[in-house]
Amino acid sequence: MPPTVADITAHLQPLMGDRLQQVQLKDNGIVALTLSLPAVPATERDRLIDRCKKTVLALPEIRDVWVRVNAPAVADPVPTDSRQPVPGVRHIIAVSSGKGGVGKSTVAVNLAVSLADQGFQVGILDADIYGPNVPVMLGMDLAKVAVIKNERGEDVVKPAFNYGVKMLSMAFLIERDQPVTWRGPMLNGMIRQFLYQAAWGTLDYLIVDMPPGTGDAQLTLVQAVPLAGAIIVTTPQNVSLLDARKGLKMFQNLGLPVLGIVENMSYFIPPDRPDRQYDIFGSGGGSKTALELEVPLLGCIPLEIQLREGGDRGVPIVLSHPTSASAQALRQIAQRIAHTV
Ligand SMILES: Nc1ncnc2c1ncn2[C@@H]1O[C@H](COP(=O)(O)OP(=O)(O)O)[C@@H](O)[C@H]1O
Ligand SMILES: [Mg+2]
Repeated sequence: MPPTVADITAHLQPLMGDRLQQVQLKDNGIVALTLSLPAVPATERDRLIDRCKKTVLALPEIRDVWVRVNAPAVADPVPTDSRQPVPGVRHIIAVSSGKGGVGKSTVAVNLAVSLADQGFQVGILDADIYGPNVPVMLGMDLAKVAVIKNERGEDVVKPAFNYGVKMLSMAFLIERDQPVTWRGPMLNGMIRQFLYQAAWGTLDYLIVDMPPGTGDAQLTLVQAVPLAGAIIVTTPQNVSLLDARKGLKMFQNLGLPVLGIVENMSYFIPPDRPDRQYDIFGSGGGSKTALELEVPLLGCIPLEIQLREGGDRGVPIVLSHPTSASAQALRQIAQRIAHTV
């Protein structure tokens, strides 16, 4: 007995969820599937198609499977009135996370340095009002923020510069003992100043280290900055992934492209036992979430002692230990971004 459409659907549903749009049973044991696969990389798409085919072909009396993939539905764009482009800046990319401490700044900084290393003009805007630590990670002196006159005689903020990256940070404006609750309302004004009254010059990429979470601070920023897209950083833990999903939904609801997910602290290789690998925070969460939410998994970064040390010392790992596993993963993520945006 050949399977019915309901049988085939039942086999594919656990694999595809609502990405399975239609199942048709043709003559001669041929099954035609229609899938909806928005925004997944080609390799991932091919893998899914392959799995669907294999699953159906394993059923009795099925001779062939045809797969058609439908184009993604495009979300409504965000109104652009308050988000005029920043003159001279080509692409603004947000690095975001559902919660703090997952490595958002580490990824932002190493991404910026890698892109600069590839020959791009790069800036980084540290907009994390809760913990603006980009200056430390880039080995920059906090005191050195200068106000200069531009060619029209207006006062503009001059970014700090190190490792080929220009940088402005909320840390320049926030007093250390100022409560975070006071910072929120100031955020919009500060961001606008750092975007539009700063001497960024010509930039291919401006990376924005966003405040963590999906609260007001994030929303204010997303609405103030003309973003090309967002990168979501998460660890493989369930709690962290749950927050990452929320963040992703927020960007998608605003019609902003999510460029992909970066899974940080994916696994730990002990320096004295390089043959071992420990999944400290669980494993595979990032790729599962990426698949489920139909965005690319940009890369997985292992937990490495040198990565933390580099952050504390102000030398990003892509420069201090370029051959380490995490540096390689970070560089690859930068290459993917440069290909996509
Ligand atoms: N893959 C990693 N391996 C080792 N340490 C890491 C890794 N990612 C981040 N860290 C460290 O964890 C801490 C938090 O990272 P950070 O980038 O500041 O997170 P966030 O910006 O999300 O709060 C920092 O001390 C950083 O050096
Ligand atoms: Mg940070």
